[in-house]
Amino acid sequence: MQTQLDQIVGEALGQFASLDDAAQLEQAKARFLGKSGAITELLKGLRELGPDEKRAAGASINRAKERIEQGLHDRREAIAQARLDARLHEEALDVTLPGRRRGGGSIHPVMRSWQRIESIFRSIGFEVADGPEIETDWYNFTALNNPANHPARSMQDTFYVDAIDSQGLPLLLRTHTSPMQVRHARTHTPPIKVIAPGRTYRVDSDATHSPMFHQVEGLWIDEQVSFADLKGVYTEFLQRFFETDALRVRFRPSYFPFTEPSAEIDMMFDSGPLKGRWLEISGSGQVHPEVVRNFGFDPEKVIGFAFGSGIERLTMLRYGIGDLRQFFDGDLRFLRQFS
Ligand code: DAH
Repeated sequence: MQTQLDQIVGEALGQFASLDDAAQLEQAKARFLGKSGAITELLKGLRELGPDEKRAAGASINRAKERIEQGLHDRREAIAQARLDARLHEEALDVTLPGRRRGGGSIHPVMRSWQRIESIFRSIGFEVADGPEIETDWYNFTALNNPANHPARSMQDTFYVDAIDSQGLPLLLRTHTSPMQVRHARTHTPPIKVIAPGRTYRVDSDATHSPMFHQVEGLWIDEQVSFADLKGVYTEFLQRFFETDALRVRFRPSYFPFTEPSAEIDMMFDSGPLKGRWLEISGSGQVHPEVVRNFGFDPEKVIGFAFGSGIERLTMLRYGIGDLRQFFDGDLRFLRQFS
């Protein structure tokens, strides 16, 4: 009997050891401990034995059964452990690989210019003001002495908003930062020395025009502000912005309804790739008496100048960029050059 049991146990443990699949292991278990398994059959045979023999044989069979169960348990654990090891191995991380960095963002070249413009003008005593991009007809045109038939007022040149102001006129996306002259002046008293950088909009799109673009408006109003101050301030600004004294500035007579006299500011580099060419950089002029009146001031008492410059234009000249649309394409290969 014992020999037979030892044989069965040996066979069971041998089979278990040869299997490394959990399902097959459970099938093997059935062969020994299942309803008609070897051990079960032996237990059934106990019926035919007398009480003493039954007890002794029963105890032996149970010990054999326990050894098989123990073997089964150990093998189950070993298979589970092996599976876990295999998974861990498969999913292993190579901790020696260089880490993936989060891509560092950077300031857009136009915003960089905006920031530089603010800091340069702040350092020469200008405040920085901000105002709405959705404007009324009055601030954008009328207050700035724009005649009623001025072409900039046509539906083609401006984005109108589907809403009207208190005068019953449609609101519009400001076509320039000049309305900020009026907004700021009407809420402050001279001396006024302010710049107002911001977004502006026109129905315009080609290599040098974008429907949305940026301008910076400048305004200096006091009892005695002259064209010489405009020349001094703007030349200082250009030298600081382009980080060179090797540039020339000229004021070319021009026309704007809100200034009289008006001038186009041109500049020329004495060196570099743009050397020797006059480049148009900004509109400017002495603020028109009618506009000073719209500020709420007496043009007999205060006087001053204004200018309005394109920030994209300044940025293109600073970095030698030929196509303005590159600013708005969002191509990282272009943008990374400025980070
Ligand atoms: N607002 C003008 C434009 O967008 C630019 C301009 C010209 C602004 C002369 C001024 C100025 O302040 O004095 O074309």
